[in-house]
Amino acid sequence: MSAPAAHRVIAIDGPAASGKSSVARELAQRLGFVYVNSGAMYRAMTWHVLERGVATDDSDAIEQLAERAVIDCQLRGHHSLMLIDGINPEPFLREDRVNDNVSRVSSVPRLREILVDHLRRYASENDLVMEGRDIGSVVFPETPYKFYIDASPDIRASRRAAQGQHDRIAARDQADSSRRASPLIIAEDAQVIDSSHLTIDGVVGEIIGRLKLKGLTSAS
Ligand code: DC
Repeated sequence: MSAPAAHRVIAIDGPAASGKSSVARELAQRLGFVYVNSGAMYRAMTWHVLERGVATDDSDAIEQLAERAVIDCQLRGHHSLMLIDGINPEPFLREDRVNDNVSRVSSVPRLREILVDHLRRYASENDLVMEGRDIGSVVFPETPYKFYIDASPDIRASRRAAQGQHDRIAARDQADSSRRASPLIIAEDAQVIDSSHLTIDGVVGEIIGRLKLKGLTSAS
């Protein structure tokens, strides 16, 4: 179990294309918190594995590569950014090959441990909105501010298609939910919001309302 975060953390978890990225970004902006996209970090490591020619089913080799990688987590403005061996992989994070392999790479327990350490460090200096799969259950289990954003499978698939992306979200969800290390689950104390028929603003408004009830406003 981690030490309590020095700053406030709002955890936003949920399956692929549930709308959580747009919601988390907008929420962070409205509250003046830093936005951390943990999925981008798992994508960045996947890109690194692929670039280095490591087989994505070779957990030992992935573990060794993750141990050797020089990971530099920064902020660009109010957003997280992760460099690997001095390179910013952001332009490559939505490549088909990354979509196709990210669930497998992110199931390697040691790689997760390394990234979770980096994720937790963000909270030593900033109030955060952090999105992912295991933020409320594993990364910051002690935060009182946990949300799980969901949407129906059809709506999630059509959102991805509208973004012009080839992304087998059903397969990713199945892999992310059934892996042994930190699977996607609804944390016991998370508040579930179904975004199927809500706009981004609608979901953000709903979250802000619930945060107020818990006594959280933007001022520290
Ligand atoms: O949020 P996203 O769809 O960009 O995430 C890409 C993948 O990264 C997701 O399919 C599983 C992995 N991931 C994870 O294992 N844990 C997280 N906290 C965030 C993402």
